[in-house]
Amino acid sequence: MDVQLLTEHENAQLGTRQPLPEAYLGLSDEEMDARLGAARAALGDAVVILGHHYQRDEVIRFADFTGDSLRLSRQAATRADARYIVFCGVQFMAESADVLAAPGQQVILPDLAAGCSMADMATIDQLETCWDELEAAGVAGVLPVTYINSAAAIKAFCGEHGGAVCTSSNAAAVLAWGWRRAATLLMLPDQHLGRNTACAMGVPLDEMVVWDPDEPLGGLTPDALARARLILWKGHCSVHERFTVAQIDRFRAAHPDGRVIVHPECTFDVVQAADETGSTERIVQRVTESPAGSVWAVGTEIHLVSRLARQVAPERTVVTLDPFGCLCSTMFRVSPNHLLWVLESLIEGRVHNRVVVPEGRKRWARVALDRMLEIT
Ligand code: 13P
Ligand code: SF4
Repeated sequence: MDVQLLTEHENAQLGTRQPLPEAYLGLSDEEMDARLGAARAALGDAVVILGHHYQRDEVIRFADFTGDSLRLSRQAATRADARYIVFCGVQFMAESADVLAAPGQQVILPDLAAGCSMADMATIDQLETCWDELEAAGVAGVLPVTYINSAAAIKAFCGEHGGAVCTSSNAAAVLAWGWRRAATLLMLPDQHLGRNTACAMGVPLDEMVVWDPDEPLGGLTPDALARARLILWKGHCSVHERFTVAQIDRFRAAHPDGRVIVHPECTFDVVQAADETGSTERIVQRVTESPAGSVWAVGTEIHLVSRLARQVAPERTVVTLDPFGCLCSTMFRVSPNHLLWVLESLIEGRVHNRVVVPEGRKRWARVALDRMLEIT
């Protein structure tokens, strides 16, 4: 496919959400599938489609690569051959891809409204205030580490202040790296991932404190901060917070030999009550590689769980830990209609819903992401 340059109009629209045109509404499943297949084939190597495990079946079947945040970041960093990276995931993933992509590559998020409510729980203004307050309180030598589920500005701050990014699959390695450099780490924005990971590394709970960005000095005393090895940002994932210990108890009563695996964004009590914890990629791997006859309860987003259940049946049984299923509504925003629209537009030389991290931010965000990729 020939490489097209952006028009002046398209340049002006960068970062602005462009809504799905009406012509892409109300298509039958058959038409959608046929057109998606044709568009994918026509674009060839000019495009790589990355799909996170939480995407719907109708979308993920067109992904060239699927995976967790770490796996997809690595793909984004190494697919310099593709002119366009179409990221079927959420904003922070597409932003990370834009930071890691080669010069000239363009990253497209089919619906720019696909954000992450956890990432929104830490803003750069709040982080700068936190940093100033820590300094004023005499809490010195803190190293910031951010979960990849955060805005590019937060990643850039971490890069500029000697810190790094982590994902759910390498958080322990990144925290260990951080503690070799500083006595105290500030972990944003997911308190559960931070607490669960540090606890598994042997850090006592009373050496962790929670920083509330809505309170002066995070709602903490200078003494408590001075004793802390880990300052956890008060953020969480509302999808994963819905899993409970009572659900695990009910599953165990019904399946005494069953196993429970949950994502580390679940609360501390849920992770403690589960048999295993891991990133989405690890969950898929553990269940897929388990012996025939295994019965699993899985605590993560429902699209992954339902797909996994179908893929491993009938040899293995997979049920969702939450009987009502936990849906990530922002992941769900990327519809096959959006994917079709952005692909067919690329064939016509038009780029919609491109994600662009501003150059100033990109530099330090890249430092933080590169540190992560070097650590693991
Ligand atoms: P993974 O990196 O494990 O895929 O997690 C991403 C995420 O947003 C989980 O809610
Ligand atoms: Fe964000 Fe939670 Fe959705 Fe993951 S599941 S993308 S953390 S809102």
